[in-house]
Amino acid sequence: MTVLDNHHFFGMLEMMSPMKILLLGALLLPTYFCIAIWKRKHRLGMRRQTLDFSKVQPLPEFKPEDTSPYPYRPWTAGKYNMTMGLRKMPADEWLIIDSLYKEEQVLRRHLLKTNRQGVMQCLPTAEKACEEALECIVNFLIERYPSQFKLLTNRPGFIYNGITARNFKITKPYEQHPLEVAAQLVMEDINLLLQGAGNDQLDYCLCASFSMAPAGWYLQERIGWPIWRIHGPVPLWEEKLRKAMQKYAPVKCKLFRQTDRTRFFLGLKIESPVQRNNYFIQMDKTMFQQEPFPAASLHQLQVEDVHIRHERQTLRRLPRSGAVMFMVRTYLTPLTILKEEKQNLFALRNAVSAWPAEMAKYKGRHAWGEVLSEFCGTVLKNYISEGSIE
Ligand code: HEM
Repeated sequence: MTVLDNHHFFGMLEMMSPMKILLLGALLLPTYFCIAIWKRKHRLGMRRQTLDFSKVQPLPEFKPEDTSPYPYRPWTAGKYNMTMGLRKMPADEWLIIDSLYKEEQVLRRHLLKTNRQGVMQCLPTAEKACEEALECIVNFLIERYPSQFKLLTNRPGFIYNGITARNFKITKPYEQHPLEVAAQLVMEDINLLLQGAGNDQLDYCLCASFSMAPAGWYLQERIGWPIWRIHGPVPLWEEKLRKAMQKYAPVKCKLFRQTDRTRFFLGLKIESPVQRNNYFIQMDKTMFQQEPFPAASLHQLQVEDVHIRHERQTLRRLPRSGAVMFMVRTYLTPLTILKEEKQNLFALRNAVSAWPAEMAKYKGRHAWGEVLSEFCGTVLKNYISEGSIE
């Protein structure tokens, strides 16, 4: 609007009665909001009805038993620097399946039977997002792993999981909760975050989750929490990551220029899923770890007890609900495996010793650090003297 236009506009307003101004406002405001919401949806790609997996490369011969878990080694030697560590997620690699599928599905079914509240939560506000999540998971699996996942032609509305030899109803009326079905199809934990579900309309909150592998936290406690509160125990989160999240996704639409803590989630586009990795070290093989990791081992810790718990996390937006879907695949790798991967072991020792004191405390280094250090000392002694890493 030019200066002249402004004059005209305000001149007109002056001539109008307060009632007319109110009426005009009542008419214009909803229009303004509708346009702003449409613009936001357009920007995030939310006009689509469902995710498009037609370009996903099928693996027609895929057999989980022939596929080893991917050997992620998500640590690097050098100065500690907490970053979001996000990278693009290739479309084909959203849901990964490998030889551990069957045994982890046994654990999932066991937890659903014995600790349903602990492993799965869904707030009423997230029911629709769970249905949408299941739909997307099914569409991806039948495209990517056609030999293992099939829609049943003789039983419409059912999918056959060839790895566990089970059928699941995937349409309404459901026989099991859609999140429960989804969890029995994939290897990842599933988290759905919705904006405006908490006290602050700007926050993204955890509204539904199936978590077979929590890393020291209780789902029953944290369901409904905003993302910043979930990360409360994480040292440096406030100073480092909240800031980084602000930088990551510039929000152009003025109406939605919001506080730092939501920027990343607001900016996540449907067509641009991302992934990141992280890791902890633990003193046993427990996958379903709700209690915080113990501060000391209950017995004399052996190097064989020490496991690297590493996660591959993916983030994507669902088109209809706008929910952010946060999937987490957890791997437990025995430390001793790194005997054969000296470069990685060297990097791990280096990374762990570079943690600042508060991070070392959070990750429990005092409990297993000595055993790790001794192991590295023995394995890397010759390696270093051979000069391989200089
Ligand atoms: C871009 C997104 C995210 C980033 C950069 C991020 C980063 C982190 C970091 C750095 C940690 C500390 C552990 C470590 O050093 O590896 C952590 C822990 C954690 N994150 Fe996230 N995270 C993200 C998204 C999420 C989401 C969406 C959830 C929702 C469930 C979540 C749940 C957790 C939990 C439960 C912990 C453990 C907290 C505890 O120790 O009590 N994170 N995250």
